[in-house]
Amino acid sequence: MCGSYAFNILFSITFMVILFGCLCEARVNVTIINDIGPNVQLGLHCKSKNKDLDSQSLPPYKPWGFITAINFWGTTSFFCHFEWGSESKWFEIFVTSRDYYLCKHHPCFWSIRPDGPCRLTGKEKCYPWNANI
Ligand SMILES: *[C@@H]1O[C@H](CO)[C@@H](O)[C@H](O)[C@H]1NC(C)=O
Repeated sequence: MCGSYAFNILFSITFMVILFGCLCEARVNVTIINDIGPNVQLGLHCKSKNKDLDSQSLPPYKPWGFITAINFWGTTSFFCHFEWGSESKWFEIFVTSRDYYLCKHHPCFWSIRPDGPCRLTGKEKCYPWNANI
């Protein structure tokens, strides 16, 4: 009786350590590179529902990035607005369900190109811009 009680306590503590350990470790590094073209400055502004990462201006081929925690529900997502020349585009740069599996151990690298962003982490994959709102 006493032994099984101690075992239960130990089991619960172990379980909680594992659970909270996993939650605290659930972070991703999202890094964006300006691959629009030579001599083209890329303006960008990323935000999630409750975080605004301010506007950035990236010289050609320069990276910028952020680290975000993944919420328990797996609904963390970040949108970015990109501007260069007379172009104005949107893209959902981080979606937990789409990116977390690939990016949990490596930074999520995105090459921003005129036709759309390409994720370089894992197998290179290009996406169309999100529809303009
Ligand atoms: C994200 O990863 C990149 C590439 O490894 C690194 O250069 C950058 O410093 C990291 N970002 C942060 C905010 O730690």
